[in-house]
Amino acid sequence: MHQLVVFASGKGSNVQAILDYFQSPDKVRIALIVCNNPEAGVLDIAKTRQIPVQLIDRNAFRDPGFVEKLRSYSPSLLVLAGFLWKVPDNVVQAFPGRIINIHPALLPKYGGKGMYGQHVHQAVVAAGEKESGITIHYVNEHYDEGGAILQARCTLVAEDTHESLASRIHKLEHYFFPRTIEFLLDNLTE
Ligand code: GAR
Repeated sequence: MHQLVVFASGKGSNVQAILDYFQSPDKVRIALIVCNNPEAGVLDIAKTRQIPVQLIDRNAFRDPGFVEKLRSYSPSLLVLAGFLWKVPDNVVQAFPGRIINIHPALLPKYGGKGMYGQHVHQAVVAAGEKESGITIHYVNEHYDEGGAILQARCTLVAEDTHESLASRIHKLEHYFFPRTIEFLLDNLTE
């Protein structure tokens, strides 16, 4: 059985997609949701599904005790699903090759600090891009710079707004994120 620790601070539609995909908690389950926003929609999902939540502030995130807390769940993967803070170096180093993030653009384009959620889609539309997409990648010490695991693309049309693009990107995310997680879990090396 694989345990995931999921970091999420938004609406949580990707968390919902992961829960919907992994129906059998005997194979894969979300053991803990880490969140920095007490108002986040993902907390309603956690409540409904009775998933433990750890609310953190920036100090708690850096506290060495936090790594111990994460280790106590023996996570196969740490999954950033709409989490906006940079992961502290001590956490990255404690779980080498085990932390992944989803980003709503084709990195290295439209990545880095401040590039999240609708800010990404607004920038893509404003630049007149003909395509965008998603990047699922390993997390390293640098924001949005870890090795890419999977990219999936979509086309933009002239009428696209950041809302219509966001909705298309979410569909890509909901399809590919759970399947990528499953692929990684099936191919983990000890
Ligand atoms: C997702 O589109 C994800 O790619 C993005 O936040 C959204 C969260 O949506 N992440 C980033 O922008 C990270 N830089 P959700 O809360 O509905 O899953």
